[in-house]
Amino acid sequence: MFGLRPYPNSKVMEEGKKEMGSRLVQELAMSGRDAPTSYIQRDPVRQINSPPHTSAQVPVIDLNRLSQSDGADESVKFRDALQSWGLFLAVNHGIPSSFLDEVLNLSTEFFHLPLEEKQKFANLVDGKEFKLEGYGNDIVLRDDQTLDWNDRLYLLVQPEDQRNLDVWPTNPVSFRDVLHTFGKNTQTVRAQILRAMAKVLELKEDCFVKQFDEKANMYARFNYYPLCKRPDLVFGLKPHADASAMTILLLDKEVAGLQVRKNAEWVDVPVFPDSLLVVIGDGIEIMSNGIFKSPIHRVVANSEKERLSVVMFSALDPEKNLEPLDELIDETRPRMYKMVKTKDYLADHFKHFAEGKRTLDFYKI
Ligand code: OGA
Ligand code: NI
Repeated sequence: MFGLRPYPNSKVMEEGKKEMGSRLVQELAMSGRDAPTSYIQRDPVRQINSPPHTSAQVPVIDLNRLSQSDGADESVKFRDALQSWGLFLAVNHGIPSSFLDEVLNLSTEFFHLPLEEKQKFANLVDGKEFKLEGYGNDIVLRDDQTLDWNDRLYLLVQPEDQRNLDVWPTNPVSFRDVLHTFGKNTQTVRAQILRAMAKVLELKEDCFVKQFDEKANMYARFNYYPLCKRPDLVFGLKPHADASAMTILLLDKEVAGLQVRKNAEWVDVPVFPDSLLVVIGDGIEIMSNGIFKSPIHRVVANSEKERLSVVMFSALDPEKNLEPLDELIDETRPRMYKMVKTKDYLADHFKHFAEGKRTLDFYKI
């Protein structure tokens, strides 16, 4: 079979590793060099640090109250959060704070390991052939692509039988178990939110939740943002919307950096220990026929503190079609999005992200 080598040639492996190391942002940051031009935004990010004019604050939703019979006011807040922000901070979500701390601590420990240790789980085969999963950087598809100031570890968590354990870290030792449990916890929180969404739209309670069957995908993305000397010119993560259906994030407990676009301004997501940030992805915007919004967000870089986030993306079964729910289409609200297979949407997203374009725009009717 062509393309298969009996043993990787060790010289090629070493060259590949060197090449990969030279692209890791953490290595760049430690070298003390200035950010290479490929990281510099062509339209300088002048407004990056200017405070927004709005005093609007990211909504905080009590998930426990939301499910109770006297939670009507919380439901109003929840609906407004989904329609006008597309994200909210969830409290009383049921995951113990000591466990969330463990997830954050283990993730930080992983990124603080020596380069050789992390490269055992690299997303580049022989330092060259790119894989979606593993430790490294996002794919570079174009020479003129502007890069982001972060390294990441990307892993498929569900379905369980599709896990690629060869890129799941074994160091720290409890990493795999903790990620497994965090995946389960996230699934429970997701179901709670999906049911509440159906309720505020007065639909059958399981209409969203049943879309996520046993083949639904959940990916974890561990983002590590090293110190950056020029946060005025470089993004931690450039503006984007999530191509997932829904994203649940565990953010750094001390360092802010995530911002959301609201009424043409960038609003900071505050540090809020023990909460989870819930972000509507393009998938739910499509399924809700545009009632719930998938927000544009970005991460600014920081010259003084490193930052970490653990991001759980939920998408439907890759073979399943994504389209507005029938119940949400009528004469007053016609169908707003074309039907698309989930895996095609995700493939498009990786291409458009590299080009700085928004995938959802291509599916609007
Ligand atoms: C993402 C994302 C935000 C953060 O990974 O899609 O928006 O704070 N991350 O890391
Ligand atoms: Ni995002």
